[in-house]
Amino acid sequence: MAAVLFFLLISVFSSLAGAQQRSSHNISLGSSLSTTNTSSWLSPSGRFAFGFYSYGNGFAFAVGIWFAEIHQKTVVWTANRQDPPVPGNTTLRLTTDGALILQSAQGQTIKSITNSNQSVSYASLLDSGNFVLCNSRGEVIWQSFNYPTDTLLPGQRLPAGADIISSVSQTDHSNGSFRLLMQLDGYLVQYPVDAPFTEPYAYWASGPESAQQHVSLNFDSDGHLCLLSSTSVNIKNVTNGGFATGKTMVYRMTIDADGILRLYTTSLDRNSSDWSIVWNSTNDYCVPKGLCGINAYCILVDSKADCQCLPGYDFINKNQQTWGCARNFSAESCGTQNQNIEYNMLPLDHTTWVDEPYTTLWSITTEEDCRNACLKDCSCEAVTFNQQCKKQMLPLRYGRSSVNGDQSTMVYVKAGSRSKINGTSTRNKDILIIIGVVPLAFIVLVFSVVFSYRNRVGAYKRILEQRNIELTEEIALRSFTFAEIQKITQGFKEEVGKGGFGTVFKGTLPDGDNQKMVAVKRLHNMLDGEKEFRTEMRVIAKTHHRNLVRLVGYCYDGSNMLLVYEYMSNGSLANLLFTEERQLHWHDRVGIALSIARGLRYLHDECESQIIHCDIKPENKLMDELDCPKIADFGVSKLLKPDQIHTFTGLRGTTGYLAPEWLGNNPITVKADVFSFGVVLLELVCRCRRVDHNAPEDEIDLKYWVNDC
Ligand SMILES: *[C@@H]1O[C@H](CO)[C@@H](O)[C@H](O)[C@H]1NC(C)=O
Ligand SMILES: *[C@@H]1O[C@H](CO)[C@@H](O)[C@H](O)[C@H]1NC(C)=O
Ligand SMILES: *[C@@H]1O[C@H](CO)[C@@H](O)[C@H](O)[C@H]1NC(C)=O
Ligand SMILES: *[C@@H]1O[C@H](CO)[C@@H](O)[C@H](O)[C@H]1NC(C)=O
Ligand SMILES: *[C@@H]1O[C@H](CO)[C@@H](O)[C@H](O)[C@H]1NC(C)=O
Ligand SMILES: *[C@@H]1O[C@H](CO)[C@@H](O)[C@H](O)[C@H]1NC(C)=O
Ligand SMILES: *[C@@H]1O[C@H](CO)[C@@H](O)[C@H](O)[C@H]1NC(C)=O
Ligand SMILES: *[C@@H]1O[C@H](CO)[C@@H](O)[C@H](O)[C@H]1NC(C)=O
Ligand SMILES: *[C@@H]1O[C@H](CO)[C@@H](O)[C@H](O)[C@H]1NC(C)=O
Ligand SMILES: *[C@@H]1O[C@H](CO)[C@@H](O)[C@H](O)[C@H]1NC(C)=O
Repeated sequence: MAAVLFFLLISVFSSLAGAQQRSSHNISLGSSLSTTNTSSWLSPSGRFAFGFYSYGNGFAFAVGIWFAEIHQKTVVWTANRQDPPVPGNTTLRLTTDGALILQSAQGQTIKSITNSNQSVSYASLLDSGNFVLCNSRGEVIWQSFNYPTDTLLPGQRLPAGADIISSVSQTDHSNGSFRLLMQLDGYLVQYPVDAPFTEPYAYWASGPESAQQHVSLNFDSDGHLCLLSSTSVNIKNVTNGGFATGKTMVYRMTIDADGILRLYTTSLDRNSSDWSIVWNSTNDYCVPKGLCGINAYCILVDSKADCQCLPGYDFINKNQQTWGCARNFSAESCGTQNQNIEYNMLPLDHTTWVDEPYTTLWSITTEEDCRNACLKDCSCEAVTFNQQCKKQMLPLRYGRSSVNGDQSTMVYVKAGSRSKINGTSTRNKDILIIIGVVPLAFIVLVFSVVFSYRNRVGAYKRILEQRNIELTEEIALRSFTFAEIQKITQGFKEEVGKGGFGTVFKGTLPDGDNQKMVAVKRLHNMLDGEKEFRTEMRVIAKTHHRNLVRLVGYCYDGSNMLLVYEYMSNGSLANLLFTEERQLHWHDRVGIALSIARGLRYLHDECESQIIHCDIKPENKLMDELDCPKIADFGVSKLLKPDQIHTFTGLRGTTGYLAPEWLGNNPITVKADVFSFGVVLLELVCRCRRVDHNAPEDEIDLKYWVNDC
């Protein structure tokens, strides 16, 4: 109760004092300031000044408020802080309409500072450091205290939902990297500016005592900072207060460019220009998250913050360490294209990072398996291992060397280096090998044919990847008899999907001691003629890409045509995207989009004979056990009877993804796939379905749909 009375008294007193100062120091309409003479408007006691202050080299200016009596210029507020500074010869004018504007030398309005549309009678800079516009009744209709930048002054409140943002540096007052937010839930929290307002990103917060609505941060003249409830009851001390008071003691609270919140004080009569720190939100310079930028971590050296890059990385700009680090290659290129880059995993111990993996591999328990899982996955840029193996994409954020060991994480970063033999010489070597070793290779191949599926899946795959050797393509695909297929699928027992071209069954391939899961697609209405079928199979057999579902074999016996694919354990992208079970993180969706695009590029541009997929949709994107998407059903279009091309739409029933040229009688090119991919991309972004099977086709207009999303 006493506290409430005290605050009431203080506020009544200060508003009386304010009114007095206001009436004695009116800035009348029509007044102006210029950059050419360093004039400013002072508060009644002369403590604060309002006007132009020079920026950097002295040829550019910003409008702001600063402590007039302190030699070291301490700016506490900047108008339009995100705007570039204005040149010399600019005028600041309080117009006769009561607007505060910046005018160029030619008299043109550059920018207005205040945004009140009510009629203004005069302006005033109060002794609290608040610049106000008042109407004829003396009521404040605009005040700088409502638009804080990086500093709060005694008497200024930070209401629920409001924030202050650090400056870039002591001399550049535009938005910096850190935020102090008075949350609607009553917590006072510090975050990096680019982070969501959730707990993993916070680096300082007031305790739970204040968890209620309409809480505001209050700043008393003795430096006491506390959180007040909607009824102005003190519910949480941020600083204890009881610091020195007196006419000559001044305080300010600033979120500094280094992200630390500090309460400063100085005494005006000691004539010292130095501010001293009374309180700070942390004593550890590495606590503010994101101080070091992306792919970098903070480490204390002589209790000062120092930034270091992940192993294999370099600063983007040595003089701007907050920009973070980058490396000289991209893991994207780890597909089949860049066989002359070798990848390995570089270790970094004792650091902590924000925990946002795109996949957690629950089944992996050792560091070595964790590293290998990342090497096998092109979208994996790094893994963290701390009991669990988590795959990470770049950038890694908010790293710091860990102070207490138990949170410490082992990081492995994927690094690529050019192998010693570069492009041309690799090819030369291949030719040498082929010339010299062909007879031997042939013997090996014959053996492979005989033993192929026995027990050497690894060796078998390696042979597949030697694309130079023409012979392998014949054996790469296994030809099954219909009886074998029946055995594999146990008489077509388990149906796992149905599409326009056929029905898919689950099967098990006996493979020595291992059992290998396969998906068997039974095709309807396909090409007549074994020769054509085998020709097309050979084309498909030559396609190998990590983002394509691998075809294992086929069966052709006149009336039955079947394709045997590797089995994708994690279902289709459609399951993943349109069911509620799993929330796909943005990073995941970007990764998926890139993987599909790589697969498509390969089909269109990089494989020996161009393949138009003709049916790109989320149902055709299957996820492997590492959640890497693979395109299924490619090449099936090649097996169509020519006349079926034209009745394609009816056949497929996936109208939502079809390019407009399908409807006319226009030639189909790879562009049709690109259109369909575009639709999938939009679905990935929106996480909503393009195709509403209930809506008539002409009512589904892409642009309305996207707009709705
Ligand atoms: C300040 O402005 C108010 C309202 O226009 C007026 O009543 C008051 O006399 C002015 N004071 C001075 C000192 O000009
Ligand atoms: C300098 O400022 C005063 C007001 O303090 C103003 O009257 C004068 O015109 C200014 N001089 C120039 C050159 O703008
Ligand atoms: C201001 O304008 C005058 C002429 O209008 C010019 O001589 C002077 O150099 C200008 N000063 C600056 C700082 O631009
Ligand atoms: C002033 O602006 C508010 C909205 O910001 C509007 O509701 C009001 O009508 C405006 N008043 C005048 C006099 O233009
Ligand atoms: C700069 O910070 C202010 C809050 O102080 C915020 O309203 C504004 O949107 C920010 N501007 C940018 C470009 O981030
Ligand atoms: C805040 O601190 C003051 C002393 O500075 C104390 O009297 C008061 O009880 C504290 N309030 C809370 C909510 O802790
Ligand atoms: C403060 O220092 C200035 C010189 O920097 C001097 O002129 C002034 O008299 C000093 N004031 C006091 C109160 O010592
Ligand atoms: C925190 O404040 C204390 C004085 O209260 C000061 O000694 C220390 O250097 C400050 N730490 C930081 C990181 O600013
Ligand atoms: C990246 O840079 C390192 C050292 O500068 C070098 O060893 C490595 O080969 C480079 N990697 C690529 C892919 O250029
Ligand atoms: C790589 O090949 C180029 C020719 O394509 C050659 O000039 C260069 O010296 C080779 N580099 C190495 C390290 O062999």
